[in-house]
Amino acid sequence: TPLAGVIGWPISQSRSPRLHGHWLSRYDLPGHYIPMPVRPEDLLEVLQTLPKLGFVGLNVTIPHKEAVLQLADVVTDRASLIGAANTLIFRDDGKIHADNTDGYGFIANLVQNTPDWQPERGAAAVIGAGGAARAVVASLLERGVPELRITNRTRLRADQIKAEFGAKLVVYDWAQAGNMLEGATTVVNATSMGMVGKPPLRVPLDALSPGAVATDLVYTPLMTDFLTEAQARGCHIVDGLGMLLHQAAPGFERWFGRRPEVDAALRQAVL
Ligand code: ATR
Repeated sequence: TPLAGVIGWPISQSRSPRLHGHWLSRYDLPGHYIPMPVRPEDLLEVLQTLPKLGFVGLNVTIPHKEAVLQLADVVTDRASLIGAANTLIFRDDGKIHADNTDGYGFIANLVQNTPDWQPERGAAAVIGAGGAARAVVASLLERGVPELRITNRTRLRADQIKAEFGAKLVVYDWAQAGNMLEGATTVVNATSMGMVGKPPLRVPLDALSPGAVATDLVYTPLMTDFLTEAQARGCHIVDGLGMLLHQAAPGFERWFGRRPEVDAALRQAVL
């Protein structure tokens, strides 16, 4: 029976067990998916031990997403570009393979929910420059956005992303964040603002173009103020829960051997 799970510290907030558990029972597959609290100082030992116990891989969440890159034997290009991994595969030859599926999940969510989305047709605007934003930036560039505008409260982090990801990036000052939205056809909140218990996103949205695709990585609540206002301005909106669901699919397929579906039943199970 293949075993997989998620490691983090803390781990109780993770929705991955419900997600993978739903797929396992729905497809009637042998296997278990287990949440495991792992302290940073125990990470190496855990990664050495779990394959011996029958684990075929792991999801990785805060605070281990960066540290696992140093401990893996093989790191995909996108994981090393993003600087973090969320999916590990324990291979038969004993090697640990590290990947980052956040960008894949981000794109798959937009494609599923806005079938006529054409990222190569206009500028994208990304608010935020943390770990999640890096995955979003990498995936949008891969999908051929002609220009990628980015802003962050701490400008240095946005400047660093530009330095790493290149010429298509244009950094806007946080105070100018509203201007960045003008003419953008894809707009993303990749900060944690708007999340339950956090302050709302305070970027003015007057310049948002009707018809743009607006998406939020925050999914608690599902309808953030950002999405509500974007919808009122005529944007196509896509909530952030879908990214969480889609980013899980590649790992599930590798570990348990079946490509899972992301649909309303899964959303219901995870909410
Ligand atoms: P994640 O992995 O979710 O991206 P992160 O790396 O901690 O987490 O990044 C959080 C993002 O939300 C950052 O862009 C952060 O801005 P800073 O780099 O300036 O910290 C942004 N953020 C969080 N709280 C914020 C707030 N109150 N105002 C503005 N930006 C905020």
